[in-house]
Amino acid sequence: MIRSLRTVRPAAKAPVTARACAKVNLDLRVGAVRPDGYHELSSVFLGVGLHDDVTVRPSAQWSLTVEGKHTEGVPTDETNLAWRAAVAVAELGGVDQPVAIHIDKNIPVAGGMAGGSADAAASVLACNALWEVGLDRSEMLTICADLGSDVPFCLSGGVAVGRGRGEQLVPVLSRGTFHFVFAASETGLSTPTVYAEYDRLHEAAGSQPDDPGPNPELLAALRAGDAYALASALHNDLEAAALSLQPQLGEVIEAGIEFGALAGIVSGSGPTVAFLAADQESALHLAIALTASGTSRQVRHTVGPAQGAHLVAPAGRR
Ligand code: C5P
Repeated sequence: MIRSLRTVRPAAKAPVTARACAKVNLDLRVGAVRPDGYHELSSVFLGVGLHDDVTVRPSAQWSLTVEGKHTEGVPTDETNLAWRAAVAVAELGGVDQPVAIHIDKNIPVAGGMAGGSADAAASVLACNALWEVGLDRSEMLTICADLGSDVPFCLSGGVAVGRGRGEQLVPVLSRGTFHFVFAASETGLSTPTVYAEYDRLHEAAGSQPDDPGPNPELLAALRAGDAYALASALHNDLEAAALSLQPQLGEVIEAGIEFGALAGIVSGSGPTVAFLAADQESALHLAIALTASGTSRQVRHTVGPAQGAHLVAPAGRR
């Protein structure tokens, strides 16, 4: 529902920056296709420290800029999820004030780590603060769910099970810190293409997907803070589809295991591979080995759980 203009003061002139983290799906179970075309999911999301920063500032016209090492393929027009997020907040809040959006990008693009979704969640939070719209948590979560299946988790962060198409979140108890090393691929994978390949593989095998639900052993490993138990429970139903589209990912996983990872798994719809390491030292060793061996040119060590989208001081004032 669109609000009246009641809440809006085109007040703050100062830019507002929000940070949102990437995710890895620790246990992704994909069920049947629903009438709306989405697949019924059970996803145990873990937010990790790798993040994007989104800065919004009042402007005479709408615009979007992106900076970062790997920004190829990021749209800079109204199709960008961060732009759409800002428009959604403006509509709900009854705001008529264009913003210039700037994204400082660290999360691999089209990598299965929810980079675009993180930008959308950060944009919702930043615009809500900039325009002083006063949306509460549940209103922001509703906007996020409309924008994409992973966007609500990027707002919430931490560890959570996502049901439905991934947007219905329940927090999960977790202890300690888990060390992950991510190896991004040179070429991205489109999420709809990976889901279509998942359907094709099932059809070819004449099999039906099971009703999705989280693995209790994985939830127990999180509660115990046990990286070894977590490693043996990591699971991704989309992995076979991602491997079918980019078979070389199998070699990346093998290399990581050889270099001491406890386990390696395709992150979400891929093609980024997420390796779980026993501790900080083995994670650093693994990151160096993956880079030095030429296995991946974009290797990042990061830890989870990480908090959801939050406001930070704009760059230059930190
Ligand atoms: O929700 P989002 O826009 O991120 O989804 C992108 C695409 O991924 C959808 O258009 C759909 O093809 C696929 N998808 C799906 N089932 C889900 C989530 C995503 O089929 N639960």
